[in-house]
Amino acid sequence: MFFSDRIKAMQTSPIRRLLPYADEAKKAGKKVYHLNIGQPDIKTPDEYFDAVRNFKIETIAYAESQGRTELRDAIVAYYQSWGIPYERNDVYITNGGSEALMFAVMAICNPGDELLVPAPFYANYNAFAQASLAKLTPITTKAENGFRLPSAELIEKLINSRTRAIWISNPGNPTGVVYTAAELEMLASIAKKHDLYLIADEVYREFTYDGQKFTSLGHMGDVLDRVIMVDSVSKRFSACGARVGCVAIKNKEFMGQMLKLCQARLCVSTLEQVGATGLYKTAKTYLDEVNKEYKSRRDTLYQALKGMDGVVCEEPKGAFYVMVKMPVDDAEKFIIWMLQNYDVNGETTMGAPGAGFYAADSGLGKSEMRVAYVLKKEDIVKSMTILKGALEAYPGRVEAIKA
Ligand SMILES: Cc1ncc(COP(=O)(O)O)c(C=O)c1O
Repeated sequence: MFFSDRIKAMQTSPIRRLLPYADEAKKAGKKVYHLNIGQPDIKTPDEYFDAVRNFKIETIAYAESQGRTELRDAIVAYYQSWGIPYERNDVYITNGGSEALMFAVMAICNPGDELLVPAPFYANYNAFAQASLAKLTPITTKAENGFRLPSAELIEKLINSRTRAIWISNPGNPTGVVYTAAELEMLASIAKKHDLYLIADEVYREFTYDGQKFTSLGHMGDVLDRVIMVDSVSKRFSACGARVGCVAIKNKEFMGQMLKLCQARLCVSTLEQVGATGLYKTAKTYLDEVNKEYKSRRDTLYQALKGMDGVVCEEPKGAFYVMVKMPVDDAEKFIIWMLQNYDVNGETTMGAPGAGFYAADSGLGKSEMRVAYVLKKEDIVKSMTILKGALEAYPGRVEAIKA
């Protein structure tokens, strides 16, 4: 049967691809600590459930394609609390940040167009780009260098007539980088000079640690017509299954184009939007507490990783992931081996193979694994004991780490 070039170009998710091995381990009676996926075990605020319970209607009708007005207004109030000046008509509700990203790429890229993205990057960026036959051009960043951006000069060398946008995740998944105001100003001025969009994936905005001040691309007043802001309730309120996000920009023309995609998929779930409106009314103390919890999980994880012979990683400053270089040739093979062959008292651990977080065919990240610190501390401690033992016992262990 025939399949399109775009579907054939798409990769399976490195975050989910190895789940059948985890299922096998579970069938064999093992407990698996899932550090492969950014699914937090934090409780979703009561405001979500209360809003859904209190929504009394007889017909669950389609919502507006742009999103329910009360949710758009709640999000506008939230942005204003961050000093980001969006208004209702600048914000459309989407099925998670994922749909916002997919729509953004569809709206700005022809097949063959290019998007500059600091690598490593969130693995699904590959899939979102491939679905539009667009190409990701990596701006290579390194753990040794704190995943900082290179100079404007180096970035500009990567730009050509097919380049449409610079796409960042800030704070970064999977790097944990938090970009400085100076870095964002540099990107803003490159975007202006070369007439590019800036895709600002800020779904981890609340998760910065060690006193790092968060600066948004939404604070760059003179480029707001080219900043495509992408957001989500998934991580902020531990509501991944709600599938509610948004896209925002101060650009009527862009929103006019975006509306066609929103109308084609009719709307986002009415009930989930009601729940999400409740979430945006959650007291700020919830987010402060959650931030403290992730910081302490980060500390626990980083201490454990530092104690592992042959393991190299950078302390993440934001989001809830860390890229770990391990003394193995192929992290994917190691993860499968661990799920099949290694346990401590019937318990084992799963991470996500690092190669999928780099541009397809770049050959980078083979010895790396992304670890999500989304589990409570005692589970992180147990899963790190398992990882340490597995790395020591792995028959394929190598002494020198590769790229
Ligand atoms: C950087 C980043 N952007 C976007 C998403 C998509 O999130 P969702 O579609 O659940 O809003 C994720 C999910 O892990 C992510 O890590």
